[in-house]
Amino acid sequence: MSSVQTIEVHTAPTYEVTIGVGLLRECGARLKTVLGGCRIAVAADSNVAPLYLETVCASLRDAGFAVCSYVFPAGEAHKNFTTLSAILEFLAESQLTRTDCVAALGGGVTGDMAGFAAASYLRGIRYVQLPTTLLSTVDSSVGGKTAIDLAAGKNLAGAFLQPAAVLCDTDCLRSLPAAVFADGAAEAIKTGVLSGETLFSLFEDGTLTDAPAEIIARCIRYKAGVVERDEKEQGERRKLNLGHTVGHAIEKCSGYAIPHGHAVAAGLAVMARASERLGWAEPGVSARIAACLEKNGLPTGTDYPAEALAKAALADKKRSGDSITIVVPKAIGDCELKRIPVTELLPIIAAGLGG
Ligand code: GLY
Repeated sequence: MSSVQTIEVHTAPTYEVTIGVGLLRECGARLKTVLGGCRIAVAADSNVAPLYLETVCASLRDAGFAVCSYVFPAGEAHKNFTTLSAILEFLAESQLTRTDCVAALGGGVTGDMAGFAAASYLRGIRYVQLPTTLLSTVDSSVGGKTAIDLAAGKNLAGAFLQPAAVLCDTDCLRSLPAAVFADGAAEAIKTGVLSGETLFSLFEDGTLTDAPAEIIARCIRYKAGVVERDEKEQGERRKLNLGHTVGHAIEKCSGYAIPHGHAVAAGLAVMARASERLGWAEPGVSARIAACLEKNGLPTGTDYPAEALAKAALADKKRSGDSITIVVPKAIGDCELKRIPVTELLPIIAAGLGG
């Protein structure tokens, strides 16, 4: 087997995130030790299936698993009840039982949706994450958030279910289109802003492609720590939503034409500018963040007006009655959860828009 890094996530249950080259080819042997013998249903979208599905299924079969696979149309627009229902029917037709497993092969949409199918099928069976994008590698494959979108907003139906294992095959990242790679860079830079200068400086002084393995491992380690302390997002984990209130609003306003990472990048830049202009952040922090985003081909603003963004954001699940919790960057490594009346969101977003 190839050389790998392993990070343990101490949740219920504890699981390992393994990072290395060629892990999809070895996934059968690696998962055998975690799962034992069972049936595995591999879920992949129509973009990822032609690239990796056969490799994964062959490796699983070679290791003795009974394997079936389901391919659904790619894109956030398909992260909905129709696709979820089709996956659930497929699991039932394939006669998966409580001891069997779903494998989510792909990016964030696949992990969220296949994870939710696993969380709801037979009231919950095991699943494993096989992330193939940078975004799912550094963020969404770890931590057990699963969901689909509703007409009212993103990720509004879902469940927390930790995966049984995560295998991050860094070979998959080599051939990603630039825009898809940039999506993951946005979540990695967000993690840098949250975690502090050590990680952030890797973006400031170099590029993600200079030290991908180190950056990926640091992002996952940071996220694992947060998830271990706050698995169900009752407090600290909310900070991982930095940039997401405005980001989700941008995605929704665009009819999900703007991808998640690009929207989060713009949302992060808007919140950093607002925080500085409102006197919450130390001077210069928003320019430092914007420079890292720009260097990675990411937007630092949006043409949607503050009114449209605030309206979309207030349908978000971060709202609680007449208040909403936003994540405010104050310095690199110092972000604060601020609970504000919903009426204050619009002027805050307005403060962050524009150069
Ligand atoms: N993507 C944020 C979280 O997992 O909490």
